[in-house]
Amino acid sequence: MRIGLDALKQFNAGEKIMTTLQNQIEKICITAFTASDFDTKFAVVRESDRPDLTDFQCNGALAVAKSQKRNPMEVAQEVVTHMSGNELFDVDIAKPGFLNFRVREDALMAHLAKVAGDPRSLVPLAEPGQKFLVDYGGPNVAKEMHVGHLRSSIIGQALKTILRFAGHEADGDVHLGDWGLQMGQVICYVEDHAPEYLDSETALPISMTDLQVWYPAASGLSKTDEAFRDRARAATQALQAGQNDYYNLWTRIRDASVESLKRDYDWLGVDFEFWFGESRYQAALEPLVKSLTESGVAELDDGAVIIRTSDDGKLPPLIMQNSNGGFGYGATDVATLQERAEDPNLNTVLYVVDARQSMHFKQVFSAAEQAGLFANLSAEHCAFGTVNGTDGKPFKTRAGGTMRLADLITMMSDAVRSRLDEANSVDANAREFVAAQIAKAAIKFGELSHDREKDYVFNVDQFAQFEGKTGPYIQYTCVRIGTLLANAQKDGLKPSSPKELGEGGRALTLALDAFPAALARTVTSRKPNFVANHAYRLAECTNGFYQKNRVLSAGVSPQEASSRLGVLNAARQQLVLCLELMGIDVPEQM
Ligand code: ARG
Repeated sequence: MRIGLDALKQFNAGEKIMTTLQNQIEKICITAFTASDFDTKFAVVRESDRPDLTDFQCNGALAVAKSQKRNPMEVAQEVVTHMSGNELFDVDIAKPGFLNFRVREDALMAHLAKVAGDPRSLVPLAEPGQKFLVDYGGPNVAKEMHVGHLRSSIIGQALKTILRFAGHEADGDVHLGDWGLQMGQVICYVEDHAPEYLDSETALPISMTDLQVWYPAASGLSKTDEAFRDRARAATQALQAGQNDYYNLWTRIRDASVESLKRDYDWLGVDFEFWFGESRYQAALEPLVKSLTESGVAELDDGAVIIRTSDDGKLPPLIMQNSNGGFGYGATDVATLQERAEDPNLNTVLYVVDARQSMHFKQVFSAAEQAGLFANLSAEHCAFGTVNGTDGKPFKTRAGGTMRLADLITMMSDAVRSRLDEANSVDANAREFVAAQIAKAAIKFGELSHDREKDYVFNVDQFAQFEGKTGPYIQYTCVRIGTLLANAQKDGLKPSSPKELGEGGRALTLALDAFPAALARTVTSRKPNFVANHAYRLAECTNGFYQKNRVLSAGVSPQEASSRLGVLNAARQQLVLCLELMGIDVPEQM
């Protein structure tokens, strides 16, 4: 099931009444600091480090005391005098001067009802929204996607979705690697081993199966055979110069690749507004280099055209054109930015690309800055680390080769299917479909719950578990509550606004309240792990509440049952939203 995120745009949680408990407390705190004549920058309220004792805390009295050389207990006392009369919380002072806030039970329940009534879970719409372009995916034509492409695709898609939900405009560009040396390699291989495909008249159709043979063989030859390597380089240049038969072959290779890429992306739920590729910029390269040379941004250096970077000599210059006249990856990225800068509404380009390319992006951004492309535009490299296997080394096949994305997907699907077969809890005719939904959740959550800048271990068995910090666990929580709600409905019971918090209800409400902040953190840091980790925390609290509060049992009154259903319904609603932001479906059964 899906919510349809676009529909949520019409709801705007707004600032006035619909704000988080944390924000409301902070506001009261700011007023109290102002009334005491203390600097309000110290009035920061955060979740308590000791949730067993209190809900929120403010450490600002300590900072004020330090800056004014006063006793922190006295400072805290003074702040507290200005908080009397509020109906939201009780406040205590803990040594040596912490302000501890405990939200009153009726205020918590009223807040829970508010969250439940807002399909955006109190996340405000950004005003004004910005326009983003997310450059992600970045697969290379003729080559198969490998495990590294998973990171870019899943993080990029999640960022795009989350930015849109936050009220921004965001498009995705796959930025295909369709113009590099691998094209010349495959062309030369075809020339030697399957020349009939070069005949532009017959134009034999090409399939991914052909490419699966051609590309690895061609790439292997390039490593061992120097003459082949030179020919491949020359063929790449001839292709870029528009040689007819090569161009014709290239078009068919590209089409076959794109078709297969679209299939994989479709399975993953990854989509792009633009299927542009490096080849798109071929015609722009020469004029760009010419004008940058004329304006003095680029210069000739030993037969090549380079742009010196603005980083006091530590960063090598960006090569725009090599001494043979060829243009490389760097020049293409500058030309791409030139086109992107033409959109007057575009504010920011996010490059979701491997951290190993960080020098490349520093060079490109420096060149673009000097070329005047960043007058109204900014660009960021949202780098990610390596996917490792359980041995802690980059994830490889058993034979030591690169792990193909397709194989990884199969491994995960197999692991999930055998779990489902074992549990026998899903109807046989739905099992394949549900297994795919769970496998995707396992892969995506495994990815998104980690800080993108760090490496992580892709653990098929662990990611597929229905318990612990996994995608399937969060799905399972939603399914379980969904089933409970459906069964209750059959008994004529509907969720109501909560009349009692119940055991675990406080922790659950506070978890729900933390969502807007987690979302905002993802937006500013461009790191989906804040939303992913929030979802896990919420799932934990939801299960905790579910286990401790009976709903459909003897001795539970209809009022009590409805109230508990109200709490669980609010939790489920936000969980489903979090999953949708991560591109994860909630199965009908599990
Ligand atoms: N095709 C590149 C690779 O596989 C990634 C492209 C990233 N995007 C960009 N604009 N450079 O490494």
